[in-house]
Amino acid sequence: MSEKATITIGDKSYQMPMKHGTEGPSTIDISSLYKESGCFTYDAGFLSTASCESSITYIDGEEGILRYRGYDIDTLAEKCTFLDVSYLLIYGELPTPEQQAWFNRTITYHTMVHEQLQFLFRGFPRRSHPMAVMVGSVGALSAFYHDSLDIYAEDERELAIFRMIGKIPTLGAMTYKYAIGQPFMYPNNELSYAGNFLHMMFANPCEKYKVNPVVERAIDKLFILHADHEQNASTSTVRLAGSSGANPFACLAAGVASLWGPAHGGANEAVLNMLEEIGHKSRIPEFIKRAKDKDDPFRLMGFGHRVYKNFDPRASVLRKTCREVLESLGIKDEPLLDIAMELERIALEDEYFVDRKLYPNVDFYSGIIYRALGIPTNMFTVMFAIARTAGWVAQWKEMIEDPKQKIGRPRQLYTGANARSFPTSYKEVA
Ligand code: SDX
Repeated sequence: MSEKATITIGDKSYQMPMKHGTEGPSTIDISSLYKESGCFTYDAGFLSTASCESSITYIDGEEGILRYRGYDIDTLAEKCTFLDVSYLLIYGELPTPEQQAWFNRTITYHTMVHEQLQFLFRGFPRRSHPMAVMVGSVGALSAFYHDSLDIYAEDERELAIFRMIGKIPTLGAMTYKYAIGQPFMYPNNELSYAGNFLHMMFANPCEKYKVNPVVERAIDKLFILHADHEQNASTSTVRLAGSSGANPFACLAAGVASLWGPAHGGANEAVLNMLEEIGHKSRIPEFIKRAKDKDDPFRLMGFGHRVYKNFDPRASVLRKTCREVLESLGIKDEPLLDIAMELERIALEDEYFVDRKLYPNVDFYSGIIYRALGIPTNMFTVMFAIARTAGWVAQWKEMIEDPKQKIGRPRQLYTGANARSFPTSYKEVA
């Protein structure tokens, strides 16, 4: 007999089946609760609610564990390329050498975007935030891939996935080129995924551009670390949008929009702006004080996490990578890194942060590395979106292929007006 949870409401009890996964907390399947009891559950922000079953990514917030398809993130960051990890997220296994060659070639041949897309960019002010342009241009891909797209046909679903992973770095680089008034650079099929992105970002038609292998490897590693993270806000957005059968490119744009928020993917840009605002170690106590002040909306950007109540394992890898990149690029003193290290030391000793288990998260160090690699601050979240596209498409695929998949339609606790009669005093507009 399967294990049950008992929910007692008043003098009635309801038996709800338990569902157990391979790792992590078990769940109480409450899908029949409303039908049996007339009650909803309430969990604003989904602190205790699983929205789906997934076999892609596992996080243990207490232990600071992050695994993609069972492999620890630090091992993947060390031993794989971003495209290998994308293959793993999508298909569930690491690619064989033949599969690696096929997948790399396939993605490479989908990096070019339709020539018409360049005219979409011209409608944006040059000073637009790059994420505003990304929301628009990623969504615009749905205008090019819709009529012939049957997302319920496996080969067409796969083709959409290849296109999304292939074209997102091209759009990211085009966003940057448009902002600085330089011509768009076409993809170079001879280069790696990260190398091609750097080429499209920093090459120009007037001179040869040589990809720096240190920067190329660092970018590829940063993409791996940001690739997926179970049911975070932007991934949940993609899943919910996709649950209606919407065009996957449009769902991806919804994910980009959600990621933009400073509480989520926008935090990397906010961290760098915060470190620059702090300006010197001596001002750190002032900002720590503000972060603790409930009347001050300021939060210590790059600290805290809904799931991690320990070090974010990605922050640990990035802390090490940060030093390696600065050293290999010959950047001797990076004052922002000094401020970041001192801020981390002080925060991790301060009882406000210790009591609330607020540790540095993935965004705390990534901005310093991006800046060292020559990525402008307002492009940091675009970098996050490029990487997270691998996770978004893998999660979207899993959702579409789930035979139990239904349109996502949460209920609510209604606290509005009761029924009332229409006022006779109301003057109808003629
Ligand atoms: C990402 O979900 C994911 O997996 C996201 C992500 C991914 O890969 O997809 O990991 C990427 O988004 C990382 C997080 C990046 N965001 C930031 O660095 C922004 C700063 N962090 C906070 O905004 C906050 O920590 C969140 C949004 C990340 C988490 O918020 P929660 O889980 O809703 O926690 P909370 O707001 O309820 O905070 C609990 C307490 C509160 O104090 P009390 O009311 O208990 O007194 O901690 C405090 C908060 O005020 N707190 C902070 C703080 N974060 C939480 N106080 C100061 N500075 C902070 N950064």
